[in-house]
Amino acid sequence: MSENRLVWVLNGPNLGRLGSREPEVYGHTTHADLVAACQQAGASLGLDVEVRQTDDEAELVGWIHEASQHSISVVLNPAAFTHYSYSLRDAVAARTAPLVEVHLTNPAAREDFRHNSVIAGASSGTIAGFGLASYLLALQAIAHEPH
Ligand code: DQA
Repeated sequence: MSENRLVWVLNGPNLGRLGSREPEVYGHTTHADLVAACQQAGASLGLDVEVRQTDDEAELVGWIHEASQHSISVVLNPAAFTHYSYSLRDAVAARTAPLVEVHLTNPAAREDFRHNSVIAGASSGTIAGFGLASYLLALQAIAHEPH
């Protein structure tokens, strides 16, 4: 059995459509590419990475509860929920392990409604604007966190 620490990468709504979704904004990397890159980076950092994606707020909240129950570290791209989901924020606030908020794009440099994150204040930290590298940097941050 692997001795590696488990990390969940949780992706919110519309991120399953990466590659075909507004490629001029989000690039050509597909969700499958993202999964492979996170698992590969995780392995080199001594992390077992499991990637999940949902368009459903309740499901995402449930995964955060589960992570809290088992003290699993999380890399979370809340996607549009970033900007308005207080239920997701409250779930994140009850976390028992590091949680890094990530974004492919830099929401601060986009439309006004993206400038506020209701998740950021409940997270360990935020990494945004570096495409797929945002996820890889977040995995590095988690690998270096004491646990
Ligand atoms: C996003 C930014 C959000 O504003 C947007 O709703 C997304 C993706 C990003 O990764 O850049 O769906 O979280």
